[in-house]
Amino acid sequence: MSKNWELAYLNNNTPWDKGKPSPGIREWLTRNRLLGKGLVLGCGYGYDVRLLAQYNKSVVGIDISMTAIRAANSFEKVSNEIYHNCDFFSNLPFEEHQFDWVVEHTFFCAIEKPLRNLYVLNLIRNLKPKGRFLAIFFLKTSTNSESEEGPPYKIKRENIISYFDPYFEVLDTCIPTKSYNCRPYGSEIIYYFQLK
Ligand SMILES: C[S@@+](CC[C@H](N)C(=O)[O-])C[C@H]1O[C@@H](n2cnc3c(N)ncnc32)[C@H](O)[C@@H]1O
Repeated sequence: MSKNWELAYLNNNTPWDKGKPSPGIREWLTRNRLLGKGLVLGCGYGYDVRLLAQYNKSVVGIDISMTAIRAANSFEKVSNEIYHNCDFFSNLPFEEHQFDWVVEHTFFCAIEKPLRNLYVLNLIRNLKPKGRFLAIFFLKTSTNSESEEGPPYKIKRENIISYFDPYFEVLDTCIPTKSYNCRPYGSEIIYYFQLK
């Protein structure tokens, strides 16, 4: 059965929420810039949206949980960032191919595995031609692969590529040196893709 995200937020049962943006994305942004209009998937309380809004005037965060979006909206604005309560898989309130870039942090690992192909197709549907996709994935490694249960559904590095390679070229990939304390070095990987 798929997870009830709204209930998790209502019950304050949000262990993924670390009260700050992804340190790996923050680190990546010290060396790189995302240009134009951007979309952040499964943004939760919006920490990554506000981080990105420090560099971009137009950043949109989406989340299926109304409670998360309400909370995100209660933070002081950094720029013109906005949030939408919607389901990435069914009712996006945007016209197609609107975004220059999409950012992903702990959303791909949150969805049920059978939705992964649809995830990639929806991603493409939202990006402009040659659009960019920055993702920080939760890696399945030899030391943390004990459980198949999730979320989070961790993924092996070679499997990440199998989903994205048909449509995207890899512009950059790295293991972030900065992370939350509970995520040891090597448990996350960054990919920066561009639509072929
Ligand atoms: C593991 S949490 C990560 C939240 C945020 N990225 C963070 O790191 O704090 C996954 C998020 O995806 C949202 N989510 C799950 N399914 C979704 C869907 N179909 N469409 C939009 N958001 C969804 C959940 O409500 C939740 O906020």
